Amino acid sequence: MTARLLDGKAAAQQILDDIATKVGARVAAGKPRPKLATIIVGENPASALYVRSKQKNARQVGIDSEDHRLPTETSTEQLVELIGVLNRDESVSGILIQQPLPTHIDLFQVVIAVDPVKDVDGFHPFNAGLVAQGLPGGVQPCTPAGIIELLDRGGVRIEGASAVVVGRSNIVGKPTALLLLKRSATVTVCHTRTKNLAAFTKNADILVAAAGKANLITKDMIKPGAAVVDVSANRVDNTQIGDLGPGVEEVAGWLTPNPGGVGPMTRAMLVRNTYDAELRRRP
Ligand code: GUN
Repeated sequence: MTARLLDGKAAAQQILDDIATKVGARVAAGKPRPKLATIIVGENPASALYVRSKQKNARQVGIDSEDHRLPTETSTEQLVELIGVLNRDESVSGILIQQPLPTHIDLFQVVIAVDPVKDVDGFHPFNAGLVAQGLPGGVQPCTPAGIIELLDRGGVRIEGASAVVVGRSNIVGKPTALLLLKRSATVTVCHTRTKNLAAFTKNADILVAAAGKANLITKDMIKPGAAVVDVSANRVDNTQIGDLGPGVEEVAGWLTPNPGGVGPMTRAMLVRNTYDAELRRRP
């Protein structure tokens, strides 16, 4: 078997085209352009690259962007102050603070400083809580929302499936598990302390690999015909690879390319969340 590709690049383009049409219609009706404000603290080349791509996608659909760069030694209070300014800025629809942040910064203080209405990451406990409880009105985090969208577009049945998520971060693993649960998958979350990982992955109809460890999931750990989503962007010899070993495509039924799978979907969901944030504030 050769796995069908879950083409994130193509799906993301369709989503971006759809939002571009909606933004164009709003602007033609005299409404303001949505705007995404991004913040990077410190010098992290990967973060700089990701944020540049996010802003590029926003601009492609007619969403303005502004980029704030703060030095590594920025204090939690200084960062929270900037977030306050952006919360009060009428022209800003959504605020994204790229993670990871320098370790001296109190991430919790940062996350709760963002006005939930402008929280395009869905990281504020108010939004995360709504998503966790399966209630309407929350903001779905970008990567998990992109994963669900890719599975749906690929025709993968989520309802009743055995889903295994490898990774328990607040950005990917945990919220992906919650979204799969909401869709009635039977969900298991594995992580670095899981004993006998293969025993879990081998039973997974849907396997989401978000561990950030190259070659962690080898082809003998895959259930034949499974849908395999490779989230991580590990750099090995200056090339991006995910968590999968060679030959997984011979066993899986569906597979996300990496790059070109989850990454573009994350950005498309960010653009969608920014548009939705603008709509929440100014219907
Ligand atoms: N770092 C890695 N992924 C993300 C994301 O989706 N949002 C933010 N803010 N930081 C990230």
